[in-house]
Amino acid sequence: MFHSISDIFAGMIDHATIERILDTAEIVDVVSDFVTLRKRGVNMLGLCPFHNEKTPSFTVSPAKGIFKCFGCGKGGNSVNFIMEHENLTYPEALKWLAKKYSIDVVEEEESEEQKQLKDERESLMIVSGFAQKYFTRYLWEENEGRTIGLSYFRERSFRDDILKKFEVGFAPDGKTPFTDAAQKQGYKIDYLEKTGLTIKRDDWLRDRFAGRVIFPIHNLAGRVIAFGGRILKDDKTVAKYLNSPESEIYHKSKVLYGIYQAKREISKVDKCYLVEGYTDVLSMNQAGIENVASSSGTALTVEQIRMVRRFTPNITIIYDGDAAGIKASLRGIDLVLEEGMNVKVLLLPNGEDPDSFAKKMGASAFLDFIQKNETDFIRFKTQLLLNETENDPVAKAKLITDIIRSVAVIPESITRSVYIKECSRLLDVSEEVLYAEVRKQKWKQNEDFKKREERVKPVQAKPQIVETAVHKTDLSIVDIEFLRFLLKHCNRTIVMKDKETREEYEILVKDMMIGEIEADNLISENPLFRKIFDDVANNLENEEFDPWKHFVYHPSGDVSRLATDLLSDKYIESKRWTKAGAFTEKEEDILDVLIPRIISEYKLSKVKLMLSEIEKAIDEASAANDFDRVIHEQSVYMNLKRVEKELSKVLGQRTIN
Ligand code: CTP
Ligand code: MN
Repeated sequence: MFHSISDIFAGMIDHATIERILDTAEIVDVVSDFVTLRKRGVNMLGLCPFHNEKTPSFTVSPAKGIFKCFGCGKGGNSVNFIMEHENLTYPEALKWLAKKYSIDVVEEEESEEQKQLKDERESLMIVSGFAQKYFTRYLWEENEGRTIGLSYFRERSFRDDILKKFEVGFAPDGKTPFTDAAQKQGYKIDYLEKTGLTIKRDDWLRDRFAGRVIFPIHNLAGRVIAFGGRILKDDKTVAKYLNSPESEIYHKSKVLYGIYQAKREISKVDKCYLVEGYTDVLSMNQAGIENVASSSGTALTVEQIRMVRRFTPNITIIYDGDAAGIKASLRGIDLVLEEGMNVKVLLLPNGEDPDSFAKKMGASAFLDFIQKNETDFIRFKTQLLLNETENDPVAKAKLITDIIRSVAVIPESITRSVYIKECSRLLDVSEEVLYAEVRKQKWKQNEDFKKREERVKPVQAKPQIVETAVHKTDLSIVDIEFLRFLLKHCNRTIVMKDKETREEYEILVKDMMIGEIEADNLISENPLFRKIFDDVANNLENEEFDPWKHFVYHPSGDVSRLATDLLSDKYIESKRWTKAGAFTEKEEDILDVLIPRIISEYKLSKVKLMLSEIEKAIDEASAANDFDRVIHEQSVYMNLKRVEKELSKVLGQRTIN
């Protein structure tokens, strides 16, 4: 198993605790919280929670402590089940289970400072949790809450189940009713102030959200970390929404409102809608669309997009049909593309937002509207800007540069070429011209990147992505390139020709790369390399195996960091093939050529390593007058020399003697 104890975020949960959790979390008990299981022989059977099915194929083996779905292929132990089901990382899942079984998690090797910070964060979350419950109870049970807050929500025709799902509330009006109640319960003014729930000046205190309906903001794990409060009156002189200030637990740019309630559905339907406002999230949920989150009125950030990327690469941005909304969505889009996401845009009719529109149209018509009108980003941006540049050649040239800048940040070259085709048609410019522009832009972006890097690191040689990755590990360039191709293209098929029969056959990249190296027993001894290699090798039969999901969120930080570098292709595609004359815009188009090359290069580097080791051994043996050993080593040496020559020939290199 790859989740070895030492893997786990070194020094966070101690050894003994992990073992206790693993011993206690009995698979049937854990799964039964989510799946109804029936006995079937020695196993238990139920409907798989990870894909839609009518006949059960989800099996739990109490004896082995594992689950396995024969429909979708998912399987693992109880920690894996919680990871998958709750979309948690390995350490998060362990903590989840520890909580379920009331096991105290002993976290070790924390400095005093860390401990204090953690205690403070925990305290802020506890205060926030209290406040949420207080506001929610006030909304449903107190006279003021019901007549003012609840009736406001009902006037806007929000259903009770939706209000409850999002745990909305009402903050009583007045100077400090909430602060008083909190202090009475023993909550310290310091924490009330740091969460922004109470505003403290030299000589007075105020409830920040007094008289407003409350939208609690949850983090991914479901804890309340902040609030948005809406005023009820239509008063242009007062801010419509007040939000919690930034704090130790709330960084606005890293949070998406509603993501906690949406994450499971986002994974399930493999798509996420992003909207602007709190009420948009509620209304879309009410219309039955639950895979929705909100950036709360600000432009999307990279952190927010990465958060969505944990659950799906498919985003549709739905923004209000006003100028500000359109601008905001354009800003977000380049970011989304840069992260390798598939992005669509939906523009609502002027003056509408998802909330008003969903209510006006009704659920099914709204869904219909989304499906019919969501547009690929490039078409959206082009059409929007094209209207502004009619008959103005200078403006049009600027527009092309602008659009190509967005295209150039797309990491996948296939996606890029699709956009170029589309762009060429819409702008009536030849594809060649656009490609040239993309190259220019990519080069420029690369230069920008280099400039940034130069400030902190010595200048790096190409291929840059490989070099960057090398910097962070002690793997060789050849090893890194091997891993990059293995991860990036593992599920693609290439066509090979049988050496003897000259017949063509299809083979998966991963089968070929793993098979060739295993057959020659040339697996690198580097533990990082081994870990990645073994994980792919153990999943050869697993059609669902997705290197992104598996490695980028791998519990081992080293693995996930390297995989992220290799898979996201952040900087530029490897340029090493330009020299070989085989470089094209699309690496994946010439995999038939590249994969055998990569394998041969890898083998050659390992053979060279072995040769130098044998040289050393021969020296030692002859120094020790151990002639039997000299002869033995020499024959191995000769054989390897032949292999080296063979490989060099394949690679078009020459060997000395
Ligand atoms: N927003 C904010 N502060 C404001 C105005 C807006 O933080 N003064 C954020 C809120 O997250 C809000 C989002 O921007 O939900 C979108 O603003 P807007 O479209 O004006 O509000 P709606 O979400 O449509 O709210 P409502 O339907 O209640 O009017
Ligand atoms: Mn609105």
